[in-house]
Amino acid sequence: MRISAQASAPARLLGALALALLLLASGFAFAQDEEARPEAFPEERGVYLNPDRAPVDDVGVLLRQLSDREMPEETLEGFTSYQNPALGFVTAADNRAWRDFRTVWTKWIHGLLIVLAVAAVLGLFFWRGSQGYERDPQGRRVPRFRFLDRVVHWTTAISFVLLALTGLNFVFGRQLIQPWAGDAAFGALSQGALLVHNQLGFAFLIGIVAMAGLWVQDNLFNRVDRDWLRQAGGLPSGRHVPAEKFNAGQKIIFWVSILGGLALGISGILLMLPISTVGMGWMQILHGAHTIVAALLIAVIIGHAYLGSVGVNGSFDAMWKGDVDRQWAKTHHPLWIEKLEREPGRKAEAPRAEPAE
Ligand code: HEM
Repeated sequence: MRISAQASAPARLLGALALALLLLASGFAFAQDEEARPEAFPEERGVYLNPDRAPVDDVGVLLRQLSDREMPEETLEGFTSYQNPALGFVTAADNRAWRDFRTVWTKWIHGLLIVLAVAAVLGLFFWRGSQGYERDPQGRRVPRFRFLDRVVHWTTAISFVLLALTGLNFVFGRQLIQPWAGDAAFGALSQGALLVHNQLGFAFLIGIVAMAGLWVQDNLFNRVDRDWLRQAGGLPSGRHVPAEKFNAGQKIIFWVSILGGLALGISGILLMLPISTVGMGWMQILHGAHTIVAALLIAVIIGHAYLGSVGVNGSFDAMWKGDVDRQWAKTHHPLWIEKLEREPGRKAEAPRAEPAE
């Protein structure tokens, strides 16, 4: 019996396709390797561990150079078992500036902005106190946020608070928590914090995108906002300035949240994929931008949380229960309630009957 060694036509076609793909993939991998090299081993002073090299003769010298504050005069190369040359990159002259940003400047930026935000909130509280309003004599209420609005807002808010706390642990944890928690507890806490931070980033990003979609129309700036801003929201005079559903200050908070949230989410995802998406230089820029935007947003949200709770009486109800006292709406957002009540069939509702005791 003769056994044919010849493959059928479809098998030959498949084989050719597989070969072409293999060639393409190896060409791509080669190109990647070539591309990785210039950045992984820049032509400047620094310490780079090279997978193609034999192990360095004197590991002690290498380690001393690594721990020196001074950069070695020439490029120092050692050996790494990592096959990706980019992962063998240890440090270069530029990175000293980066290390100072991470270990010193980041703490100052976060610390200063948080202290300023808390001082501004306290200043506002002692200057103007809680903004009150006369209750509607008939107890009528106006719907302000739907169930979906509230779920989206609180998902975003809770994830943001947890992201901020776990993120601040990376910045201040070693100084504020490790000394009294001890190394083991702090290590476990930080590992948990990293896990929570990386997972919740997605919930926050989805919340921000949903918030943008739900509220963008009510947050477009117009002439009413110009007048509101000119009078600084009536803060110096102590008089209420007419506003629509959101005043200009709230619109600013909306846009800062959306743009800042998107920047944090996108940079955060890229930072979770080190080296594979962007090079070392871009990783540093992304990391710096992530930190600075986070610090700004934390400061803004401290102010927003104050105004949405203690600062403006009755405001929390809007986001918690979904409706507000009609007089609250007339005091803070008169143009909105006028428009709402002009709509056919939209009147403020009678108070909800409280269940009997
Ligand atoms: C953490 C505590 C927070 C509290 C107590 C809070 C409270 C509130 C309240 C009561 C409102 C409704 C205001 C009104 O009806 O006029 C509101 C609106 C809003 N919240 Fe929050 N919020 C918090 C966190 C956040 C976070 C983390 C974000 C986004 C990152 C956010 C974004 C917004 C936006 C965009 C609005 C609509 C515009 C505005 O009122 O400024 N909130 N919030």
